[in-house]
Amino acid sequence: MKRHLLSAADLTRDDAELVLRTAEEMRALADRPIKKLPALRGRTVVNLFFEDSTRTRISFEAAAKRLSADVINFAAKGSSLSKGESLKDTALTLEAMGADAVVVRHGASGAPHRLAHSGWVRSSVVNAGDGTHEHPTQALLDAFTMWRHLGSLDGRRVAIVGDVLHSRVARSNALLLRTLGAEVTLVAPPTLLPVGIDSWPVETSYDLDAVIPKSDVVMMLRVQAERMQGGFFPTAREYSRRYGLDGRRMATLQDHTIVMHPGPMVRGMEITADVADSARSVIVEQVTNGVAVRMAVLYLLLGGNEPAGSADSTEGVAE
Ligand code: NCD
Repeated sequence: MKRHLLSAADLTRDDAELVLRTAEEMRALADRPIKKLPALRGRTVVNLFFEDSTRTRISFEAAAKRLSADVINFAAKGSSLSKGESLKDTALTLEAMGADAVVVRHGASGAPHRLAHSGWVRSSVVNAGDGTHEHPTQALLDAFTMWRHLGSLDGRRVAIVGDVLHSRVARSNALLLRTLGAEVTLVAPPTLLPVGIDSWPVETSYDLDAVIPKSDVVMMLRVQAERMQGGFFPTAREYSRRYGLDGRRMATLQDHTIVMHPGPMVRGMEITADVADSARSVIVEQVTNGVAVRMAVLYLLLGGNEPAGSADSTEGVAE
């Protein structure tokens, strides 16, 4: 793997499969009473979050801690960032503190690339979501979840539904799933598909009812109202009627088809509560898998000093 993880496009098929296999080993750890490996002892991981996050931030924190790294959480609110400190000055501070990896979420597309390629820091940079651009570890945890349920993704059909325009999750998934051999169809109203979608390795459709019965995975996306100035669709009710997943639509899925959502969900908008809480829904499992996948990513980027499989050596390791 490269030194940074900025885009799902950075991953070859071999890289992605290595992350999935490593995540499988990490996942086994989650079922043990002692959930800790010494692999990154003495290393420092900084979580640098300029944008709100629940799952992703906690997940990276849990992942780093389970690998015994020191974790520094650096949120924009309450730090000098709210006083206008630049990305550069923040980066220099992190460098001075000796960060080995910086996990960054930022509202501006490209901010993690800037951090990685500016020469300001020597650490590995992991993109935890940049603007509407990419969220590669989300795509990895989604692929890992699919792989655990469906086996090889070759030829599998994945429908990604909803606000594709504002979704870094959709873009990273489209790239990674293609690398892993899946066939992706993006389903959205025309106003919520990005310009240039023709160059993505996907099919597109405006007709949810036609696509989902053929799909092995149905991934719903949140309508990102905070990134909209209005005018993308007539009403919430109309949106739900055409692009929401409800019980009636769920009944048209094949028996093995799983329902996913990266969270946070807006229940009643893109997905109804009965679907979100149904036996097909793997939404909670996605969160669990997120920790394992982020452990794998940090482990592989920082070149852990002990083999990942040495979980037995954790017995008796103190906090
Ligand atoms: C997503 C994100 O932040 O890009 N959430 C996540 O990381 N789990 C999707 C969203 O905000 O809707």
